[in-house]
Amino acid sequence: MLEVRTIEPELTYHLRHAVLRPNQLIEDSMYDSDHEDHAFHVGAFYKKNLISVASFVIDTNSDFPIKKQYRLRQMATLEEYRKLGAGRAIVNYAENRIKERGVSFLWCKGRTTVQEYYSKLGFVPHGEVFDYPPIGPHILMYKKLT
Ligand SMILES: CC(C)(COP(=O)(O)OP(=O)(O)OC[C@H]1O[C@@H](n2cnc3c(N)ncnc32)[C@H](O)[C@@H]1OP(=O)(O)O)[C@@H](O)C(=O)NCCC(=O)NCCS
Repeated sequence: MLEVRTIEPELTYHLRHAVLRPNQLIEDSMYDSDHEDHAFHVGAFYKKNLISVASFVIDTNSDFPIKKQYRLRQMATLEEYRKLGAGRAIVNYAENRIKERGVSFLWCKGRTTVQEYYSKLGFVPHGEVFDYPPIGPHILMYKKLT
């Protein structure tokens, strides 16, 4: 039932805005890094409707002293379609694409509200909880891709 594939960055903006930053302008959900060379974006479709998105970028400003790494950003599933496996399917799909590019390290700044979700996907917490204004508490999480 779920179709997962890479999508253009512009397709992610509505979901990012609706799910992650509903109180901000939609422009606040558009990032320069979306269009960087190695960035890619993945969507999950349920009955042809886009229900979940995430973006994968190379971000060298991380706490991890690892040369080749990808960062997971802007993971969002529409509320009415949660716990159907869309988030997991997107991350699994992206992990394969990342490994094909010779990279075996994926990290994110996870909201503590969904830390358990990332743990279920195999991510491990790193360091202390920190504030990420204006969203709130986050924790770095990482996963070694095997
Ligand atoms: C976090 C989020 C992306 C999960 O998306 P999803 O499509 O519902 O995730 P999945 O259905 O693939 O869930 C995978 C597993 O994690 C579990 N899970 C999902 N959300 C969870 C949560 N909030 N807390 C704990 N476990 C969760 C699922 O039950 C499933 O477990 P299982 O494999 O044992 O059945 C979604 O809840 C969301 O968009 N939340 C609001 C935005 C947000 O916080 N994004 C992350 C920013 S860092």
